[in-house]
Amino acid sequence: MRVPPAKIHIPEEDRREILAHIDECLASGQLTLGKHGAAFEDAFAQTAGTKHAIAVSSGTSALEIIFRAIGVEGGEVVVPTNTFFATPAAVQHAGGIVRFAECDPATYAIDVDHARALINDRTRAVVVVHIGGLITPRIGELQKMCADAGIPLIEDAAHAHGSTLNGKPAGSFGLAAAFSFYPTKVITSGEGGMISTSDDRINEEARIYRDQGKAGFTSNFHTRLGNNWRLSEPHAIIGRYQLKRLPEFIAARQRIAKIYDRGLASIGVTPLSMPAGASSNYYKYIAMPPVGVDRIALKKRLRETFDVGLSGEVYEAPCHLQPVFGPLEAGTLPVAEELCARHICLPVSAVMTDDDAAYVVDSLGKALAEERVAVEA
Ligand SMILES: Cc1ncc(COP(=O)(O)O)c(C=O)c1O
Repeated sequence: MRVPPAKIHIPEEDRREILAHIDECLASGQLTLGKHGAAFEDAFAQTAGTKHAIAVSSGTSALEIIFRAIGVEGGEVVVPTNTFFATPAAVQHAGGIVRFAECDPATYAIDVDHARALINDRTRAVVVVHIGGLITPRIGELQKMCADAGIPLIEDAAHAHGSTLNGKPAGSFGLAAAFSFYPTKVITSGEGGMISTSDDRINEEARIYRDQGKAGFTSNFHTRLGNNWRLSEPHAIIGRYQLKRLPEFIAARQRIAKIYDRGLASIGVTPLSMPAGASSNYYKYIAMPPVGVDRIALKKRLRETFDVGLSGEVYEAPCHLQPVFGPLEAGTLPVAEELCARHICLPVSAVMTDDDAAYVVDSLGKALAEERVAVEA
């Protein structure tokens, strides 16, 4: 594809060193919960600006561990409907009841006022998801709202490695945060996840939960209903090398985003604007095409005529309309429903060139014009 939706980049020099370290692990037999996992955790805690980081098997397990550690069983958790399936699913797996909140059109994050309206004496936590890598500038209000209600704010930071708001990194705003290293994320470990927290109790609980609920590594006393949520050493090695690349990957993504910002106005496409103080890692570049554009047809035309792949939406449909969660009736959370139905995500990767980005803008302009002609004909 001339411009694929995403491109996973593990530079050759890193691949050589990763393989050498994996070979050492294979020779020594130290394949899980070893020095690489510990080093990955230390380095990640620095990136997230927290006292602790706990490496786990996925972003999904990071979320479930957090919800189990804070104890949501039998209580409610306010979750934005505009998120990935795993966010509300993790609440339910941990025994909680999900209350879906509306979406703020300025940031695609949780609508603060609606979240506030959903809080009651059964509420155990509120979740904010940094959609596309953007930290909502209203996060201070969320922090205050949660503090007033005596409940924790939890970050689903699966999209937001290295993103900041006024210099403060994603992962350091709530009691705990969950990150994902799934291959399409800004950095990957193959599969993997990380919990960041400055809370000593959450740190201890998370380490127990990720290793079958055992009180200690060598203990056979299971004190919590944990699981095998460990991260293997080979995954940790890949993650460590990717983490070193994070600043350079983000800079490359921000450079591409600037080209899109400049180019889109002339073709009638409105980018999600960056609030003052926000620095996104541009996991996704979110934009809104003119009203009435058929997204499926537009994506097909871009792919087939221009060899450009738009990346997956965040999200194609809000969680409250997913059959597994109820679903609530269409029209219940109309802002999220409309944003989810209409927005597009332009391709971004650490290895895209400026020419690629210019080609995407040009192709999008042409595809939109062709779509209009096709509709009018
Ligand atoms: C917002 C969000 N939360 C959670 C997850 C789950 O992460 P993982 O795929 O590593 O389990 C993802 C991953 O796609 C995500 O985008």
